[in-house]
Amino acid sequence: MKSFMGKASAIPLELVDEIRSKALHAAKPRSLTPKQRDSLIEKIKILLKKRNAVLITHYYVDEQLQILTDATGGYVGDSLGMADYGNCHPATTLVVVGVRFMGESAKILNPEKRVIMPDLAAECSLDLSCPIESFSAFCDQHPDRTVMVYANTSAEVKARSDWVVTSSNVVDIVAHLHARGEKIIFAPDRHLGNYVQKQTGTDILNWQGICVVHDEFKANALRQLMQEHPDAEVIAHPESPTEVLDMASAVGSTSQLINAAKVSTAKTLIVATDFGLFHKMHEAAPGKKLIAVPTGGDSASCVSCGHCPWMAMNSLDNLAAVLEDEHDVSHEIDIDESIRKKALKPIERMLEFSRSQGKV
Ligand code: 13P
Ligand code: SF4
Repeated sequence: MKSFMGKASAIPLELVDEIRSKALHAAKPRSLTPKQRDSLIEKIKILLKKRNAVLITHYYVDEQLQILTDATGGYVGDSLGMADYGNCHPATTLVVVGVRFMGESAKILNPEKRVIMPDLAAECSLDLSCPIESFSAFCDQHPDRTVMVYANTSAEVKARSDWVVTSSNVVDIVAHLHARGEKIIFAPDRHLGNYVQKQTGTDILNWQGICVVHDEFKANALRQLMQEHPDAEVIAHPESPTEVLDMASAVGSTSQLINAAKVSTAKTLIVATDFGLFHKMHEAAPGKKLIAVPTGGDSASCVSCGHCPWMAMNSLDNLAAVLEDEHDVSHEIDIDESIRKKALKPIERMLEFSRSQGKV
């Protein structure tokens, strides 16, 4: 297939250093005794009722938080499902247990609700790699292109876009726009952009961001693992490097990977995504052996070692604390109304598309 792929200008080295440093220095929760854990869980259950609040949680956060979310009637899912869920739930407070862009998406869709997060400093390397000023200037240079951004971006970047997508729907939406003859700017994940370009043959100008977690997965180590486990199936999140994706038999969002593990006939799965997903994958595919694709290892070269440092900032401690004070605005998502209105359009466009396909 002919490649139309263009490249946006490289991300400045200072910004790359800043992102790596933030990832390395993200706050780490204290470990809890079983007694401390149980008492925090009871406290959170009471506070959720008192605040008319519901937990909306990503698959990558600590297993205890996922279990608590299920036990209190909340939602554990991928970024598309999380955005849609808050929209449909009657609670007046949405507690987003994930990273900041997820809280922002919830607020953009639910301006009348209070949206709080255990730690607003839980960021995302993709969001950080796409500053609004340089991104907007880049878009201005290519007015003939449809601007598509991944959900892992700030509200300002979404407001500058025509479409927001997640890894659940990006291939379908790009294929739809390609069929209409549209050329695209895609930001910020370069591996996802490459993958979508290969799948659809679309003319894509690709921003050069990376996810610090998925970019660490090593193709050589994966090749070795595949030799050691010849009957295993490889499944991968599309934020992983192209060489890793080329070896995978299933590529998809976190929800799609859980489903792939469930329907796979293989007894062993080699998985290229954050190991937080293993909790739900084990539930969906009991008895199957899950092996993580190796990263650079616990060394100076590894900023994540297979687990998102920002997702890991969510804990029972800071979740209980954020629910404690109903007047605390320091953990509340607040978005300028004119930005929110502009960001809402491309998100709604995405949700409408996915609903028309029965995907949310
Ligand atoms: P999903 O939409 O697949 O849950 O991905 C979100 C994410 O941040 C993956 O790193
Ligand atoms: Fe962002 Fe990567 Fe963390 Fe997902 S895993 S939130 S893409 S840094």
